[in-house]
Parts: sequence; structure tokens; C-alpha cells
Amino acid sequence: MAEFRKVILPVYLAIFFFLFAFIQSGSAEELRAETIYQIFTDRFCNGDPKNDDPEVSKGMFDPQKKNWNAYWGGDLQGVIDKLPYLKKMGFTAIWISPVIDNVNKPTIEADGRVMAPYHGYHARNFKGIDEHIGDWKVFDRLIESAHKRGIKVMVDMPLNHTSTINHGEFGALYDGMEFMSDTENDRNKLFHHLPEIADWNDPYQLQYYTLAWLGDLNQENSYIDTYLGNAVLNLKKHGADATRLDAAKHANWGWQSTVVNKLYDQGRHFVVAEWWMSDTDDPLYHEAVKFVNKAGIGMFDFPFATTIRKVLGEEKDGFRHLAKVIEREDADLKDPNALITFIDNHDMPRFTSLNADRRAVDLALALMYTVRGIPSVYYGTEQYIHDDTKGGGDPYTRVWMKEFDEGSEGFKLVTELNRLRRSSQALLHGSQQSIEVSDDVYIFKREFGGHSAVVAVNKAKKESAVVSAERLAAVLDASDNAIDDALAGRLSGIAFPAKAKTFSLPARSISVWLAGKGEANSDIQPEIASVSPGVIHGGKPVNINGIGFGEKRGKVLADGESLSIRHWSNTNVEVTSPASVHGEVRLIVERADGATSKSKSFTALSGKLVPITFQVEKPSFNWKGEQLYITGSASNLGSWSRKAQQAAGPLLLSEDRDYILCVALPAGKKVSFKLMILDKEGKLIKEEKKIHTYKVPDQGPWRHKLRWQDDDR
Ligand code: NOJ
Repeated sequence: MAEFRKVILPVYLAIFFFLFAFIQSGSAEELRAETIYQIFTDRFCNGDPKNDDPEVSKGMFDPQKKNWNAYWGGDLQGVIDKLPYLKKMGFTAIWISPVIDNVNKPTIEADGRVMAPYHGYHARNFKGIDEHIGDWKVFDRLIESAHKRGIKVMVDMPLNHTSTINHGEFGALYDGMEFMSDTENDRNKLFHHLPEIADWNDPYQLQYYTLAWLGDLNQENSYIDTYLGNAVLNLKKHGADATRLDAAKHANWGWQSTVVNKLYDQGRHFVVAEWWMSDTDDPLYHEAVKFVNKAGIGMFDFPFATTIRKVLGEEKDGFRHLAKVIEREDADLKDPNALITFIDNHDMPRFTSLNADRRAVDLALALMYTVRGIPSVYYGTEQYIHDDTKGGGDPYTRVWMKEFDEGSEGFKLVTELNRLRRSSQALLHGSQQSIEVSDDVYIFKREFGGHSAVVAVNKAKKESAVVSAERLAAVLDASDNAIDDALAGRLSGIAFPAKAKTFSLPARSISVWLAGKGEANSDIQPEIASVSPGVIHGGKPVNINGIGFGEKRGKVLADGESLSIRHWSNTNVEVTSPASVHGEVRLIVERADGATSKSKSFTALSGKLVPITFQVEKPSFNWKGEQLYITGSASNLGSWSRKAQQAAGPLLLSEDRDYILCVALPAGKKVSFKLMILDKEGKLIKEEKKIHTYKVPDQGPWRHKLRWQDDDR
């Protein structure tokens, strides 16, 4: 008996707690299989009134909630308190606004109004938690309580800047308690001191100039590089599952890839870039795509949000545009399912402010949940809260969350949508294909691992839309049987009719029809849903999620080479990334019975990434809009590709008239490369004949100066 108590019982308990923790911490995937609830912490729930107006930063709190630019009291304890509410709605992830310590002094506007950093984007100490929302203990408790409920936590991280340079603390930066610098007395060049961004499509200005009068951190300074890297890692060490790279368009792009690499180096994590843009016609759309593809991260789906807001919000556009945008992104992005879809957020008028018709909001939500990508719901959408003052934009989009009504229609709809997405492999992981598109009607299918979903929406106000049943029946493999609407008619959806040639989609309706084999069916071919991280160096764990891998251990081939397997289950295989093959590697899962999946590519790096800024003396050339690129032997140098979307660049003409570009390169490795000039269409005009070689230092950041070394110079 004593032995039972001393040895056997503890072992059983340990196994039990391990399994409990594993099951509770959600799916094996980092974030792709989750649905996100976006919390603007200061406006969500006041769980601890003691931190409303802290001594160290007194005078920025408005208990009346009248000054939209003051703190209103929401905090991390409030988020903890509302986890059961979120769990009940079926959310499996939250995104919280920045938690790091913000400035203690407000900015005073010309009219005397206090502007407090209630949003969290005016950092002073990236290693602390702001006193208005809690401390590390509360943060840890939040992570623990969330994980216990199977909810992952994404933390917002503004790595581009500190606070306002002309007011308050003048952009002051602290390392813990230690004052490092402000923008007025910056002896160690921790900040850039360049003008305010004027040309919003100039990549040099975007990355190096000043955004909204905020202290622009110089990430090529080695102290700042280490400091910010450690601050991000710190949040991961405290259990954050995902990081939102705030203002990714404005912080150094090459440097951010090295931060991502540091996070991935420490194990499973999801990173997503906030790259503000309109739609796929945005002048910098290709830069965004290149950035996320190369870094192996997700992207907030601004093109989807912009377009659905026009189509269903403002009612000024049609589904043809939305379908075009989705098709374009799906063709360009390596991992469209890592897009985070949204219909509004804290920076734009709430969807409900655009269109007071609840059916418009509901249709937009249902579409967001059924198209590819990870849906993110802005807090309060489920209660249809909104304040339409001055059109409802910032700050009126950050309303106080008055009600947590679990009986409201919105709450019920969102609960249903969360359930729907989880119930279908096709909706979770499927590729997307348009079937029928007009301005009012959008029918598309999603397919994955033998499962399919067809979604049909008709946004017309009054007219039903007649569509061909035959085409859809073929997709659903369902000519003889009717298929119920998976939303049970909640949004006027109908059952897919059996044996019909045509049928009508009711006005203002969305129907979702699911078809497919059961998960345990051995007929299902192995299929890879995602490989994460999408970019990593040798020796690190790589997770392959999907379906039909079988319970018995098979093989994973990387360009033909068999990888060492750490874990194997029917839906998740963990391998060790290869140390010998580099670049774009095609992974194939081979089941024990020999069935193989289609390949999914992933980037194997030859080493940890460090930021190297190439500085190139402007070559003598009759420039007429052509651009300078680098192509070379590392994956971030395009692996010798001459294509603009692959090679590094374009290089940016800097203040001192040299071209510069920060590239994430493998530490300690020798790389070889060439400079080349491409015209606006991406056609190769000229390239160097001689090849440069460069040994990347073990640590960055580093500047490497060079000049065009062509023979005919
Ligand atoms: C984007 C954030 O979403 C926004 O709210 C913030 O003001 C800017 N980045 C600057 O951090």
C-alpha cells in the first residue's frame, strides 16, 4: 500500500495531469484550427478596480467613460473573468491588445484633452506589463486559465516604435527600470530621427521614417535588436501561443524575419503580420506577400476585410470583387489558411456602424467563418455593440463592452459558427474554389481530406437566385439525397435539394452543405493541411498537421530524404527539420500502408537567421525606374532566382544616396550572390558578372558595404 502511495499513485497522477493538460491546451496546431476573439483589453472588462488609476501614472483614467482617449478600466483580470463566456461561445483563441508597459505621462491635445495610451501601442518598457492592466503574475494566470479551457493566447507586439516624440515622455525607452534613451538625447542611436512618412507607398520611408510622431526604433542597432528579441521571447516564455507583429509594414522587414526565426527556434508558435492595405490592388500587396511567404508567417487578411466591408457593409460592390480578391491571394500566398480573416477591428468603424441591418453583419460573419483562413471576431460583435459618432472610426470603434448576454441572437449565431467550423475538416483546412459568382451570389467549395463543404450566399435584398443544382450535386456527390443546411436555416439557408435541376437561394441567405467521409475512414488519402513553422533551420521540430496519416508510424520524405520522426498520430506528425537539405523542400507523408500525400513545401534554413544590411554604392546606370536586387545562394537571397518575388529587394535608396536592404541570413554561413537590375515589369536588365562571397557573422545586426563590381564599370 505504501508503495502504491509513494510510487504508483504519483506516476498515475503525472500521466493523468499530462493528458489533461494536453487535451485542454487545444489542438496540436499552433493557431490555424482555432477561432479568435479579439479583445481590446482596456474596453472589455474591469476585473480589478485597484489598477484603474495607478500611482505611477495617475490622472489618465476616466471613470465616467466619457473621454474616449483615457483609460476606462479594462484589464487582464477582466479577461480572465470572461474566459467562461468566451469558452461558452466556442472560441479557442484570444488576441489581446499589447500588454507591455506604456508611457506614464499622457499627451495633452491642443484643446486640453488627455490622450492616454489606453490602447497599449505607446511602449516605454517592452519587458514589463502595464500597470493599468496587471502585472506578470496576472498575465501568467491569464495564460494558465486560458490554456486550461483550451484557449490559446495571441499577444499584440508593437516592435516598430515607442511613444510620441513631441509630448509626454518623448519616446522614452526603458529596459526594466533602467532608462535607456529618449528621442531628444539619443546618444547611442537607438532611434531613427527621420521625417514623418509622407509617401505611404515608399518602402524606405515606411520602414525608416517616423509613423504618427512615434519614436521609431532603430532595429539595426545591436542593443535594440537584442532588447526587442528578448522582449518577444519573454512573452513566449510566459506561455503566449502567438504573436501579432503590429505595424509590420513599418518595422524593418528583414529584421522582423530574424525575430520570427527566434520565436520558431523556441518551439511551436504562430506569428501574424499586421500589414495594413486595401485589397489585392494595393501598390504594396506584392511586398506584403513576399514578406509573409519568406518569413513563413500568417497575415491579417486586409484584402478580404476591405472587400467584404464594401460588398456587405457599404453595399457598394459585388461578390465578383470578393471572389477575385480571394482567388488572387490563394494563388500568391504559400499558406492561405494562415490568413486571419476579419470584418472589423479596433482601427476601423465596426461593421455594424457601416450597416445597421443585422442580417448584413450576420452574412458577413458567416462568410468569414466559411472562407479559408482563421476567423477573428472583434469583441462585442456578438452583442452588435457600436457607437457611430463621426462614422464610428477610431476611437469610437473601441466601445465599452456593457453586456455579456449569453442569450442574445448574436451570441447564439457566433456559437453556432464556431461549432460549424470545428465540425468540418473542409472548413478548417480546405482549399477554396469559386463555383458560381455574380454580384449578388457567391457559391464556393472547400475541400480537404475527402471532406467537402459548399457555401452559397445570396445577398440580394428581395429576389431569390436560381442556380444549377446539377453542378453542385457533382461537387457534393449528392444527386439522390438532400443535404441539410449546416446552419439549420438560421440565416435563411435551405437544404440542398435531391434530384433537382435548378433551385432557388432565398434573398439575404447563406446555406452551408457539408459532405464527406467519416474521419476514421481508411479510404481517406493522407493529406497535409499545414506545415509549421513554414521556415526553420535544421534540427528543430516541424509539425505536419492533416488527416489520414494512420495510427501506425510511416515516413516523412523531404525531397526524397527520410526525416527523423518525433511523434506520429493520424492527424499530426512531428519530424526533425533536415540539416542536410536546404531551401524550398517538398514534404510528403507516406502512410505505413504506402499511401502518400501530395507534397507541401517548407523552407529549410542552413542556420539561425541574423539581420545583415547590405549597403551598396549607387551603381552608375541610366536609372529610369529600374530597381536593384540581390540574388544569391541563401533562401532569403532567392536561391539564385532572377524573379522579383524571389530575389532580395528591391534595395532602398537611403538618405546618404546609397542603396540599402536588410536581409535575414544564416549565421556563420558563407553566402554568394550577385547584384542585378530589374525593370518595373521584373525583366532582368543587367546583372553582375562576378560573384560576391560573404561569410555571415555569427551575430547581427551587421552592415555589409559593397559596390557593383561589373567588368564594364
Ligand atoms: C496598428 C494598430 O492596430 C493601431 O491600433 C496602432 O495605433 C498602430 N498600429 C501603431 O502601433
